[in-house]
Amino acid sequence: SADKPLLGKRVMITAGPTREAIDPVRYISNHSSGKMGYALAVAARVLGAQVTIVSGPVALTCPSQIAKIDVESAEDMLKAVMTDIDKQDIFIGCAAVADYRIEQASSDKIKKSAEKMQLALTRNPDILATVSALPQRPFTVGFAAETSNVVDYARDKLKRKKLDMIAANDVSIADQGFNSDSNALQVIWDGGQHALPAMNKQILAHQLMSIIVENMSNK
Ligand code: PMT
Repeated sequence: SADKPLLGKRVMITAGPTREAIDPVRYISNHSSGKMGYALAVAARVLGAQVTIVSGPVALTCPSQIAKIDVESAEDMLKAVMTDIDKQDIFIGCAAVADYRIEQASSDKIKKSAEKMQLALTRNPDILATVSALPQRPFTVGFAAETSNVVDYARDKLKRKKLDMIAANDVSIADQGFNSDSNALQVIWDGGQHALPAMNKQILAHQLMSIIVENMSNK
């Protein structure tokens, strides 16, 4: 129906940070709070979708009528996404996935010793690119967190990761992006672009979902 365009559709959204273990008590992570991804989940639900959040560690509670799979690392997140991806109509990668993990996490707590120490890192799998490379893939939407040349870098990610759409945010601006209640987005697809000015993440999420729905039906 008109007010529930996603009725009968499934939407999977990654949200929050990942944690990459250094040893049993330490990790590498980032400042993602999960607010943007969880807001998108609610917006998709309101449009009638059956929604799953694949969530890194965040302080948010799961919104009602939404399924949530908790994960820690990027590798865990990829595994959780892949178990159910073939049933999804839309995939939105909103998580701030760590690009690198510790090459060899220590099973024991690392002792303090020398004045300097180095950690060897290795590339994590790219979850979004893995999804977009599937032969039967959902409508695939990425995010781009940039600090300069926002639109150019985002267009590059759209092409390189073969996405249907990308939502770029300038994370160098105060009170936007990571861990804030508001955000602004440049939404970009092949042949179009739509700027969403700074506003509350929940309202912004509804506007982004509307753009996604409109673009899906044009495909
Ligand atoms: O969680 P909040 O506090 O509300 O903050 C929201 C946000 C700033 C985290 C969000 O709006 C956002 O920008 N999310 C993407 C952050 C990010 O990691 O961007 P990126 O430009 O590094 O990655 C590009 C895309 O590839 C993203 O869709 C990301 O989910 C995906 N990716 C990246 C690396 C990787 N190994 N796997 C991925 O899937």
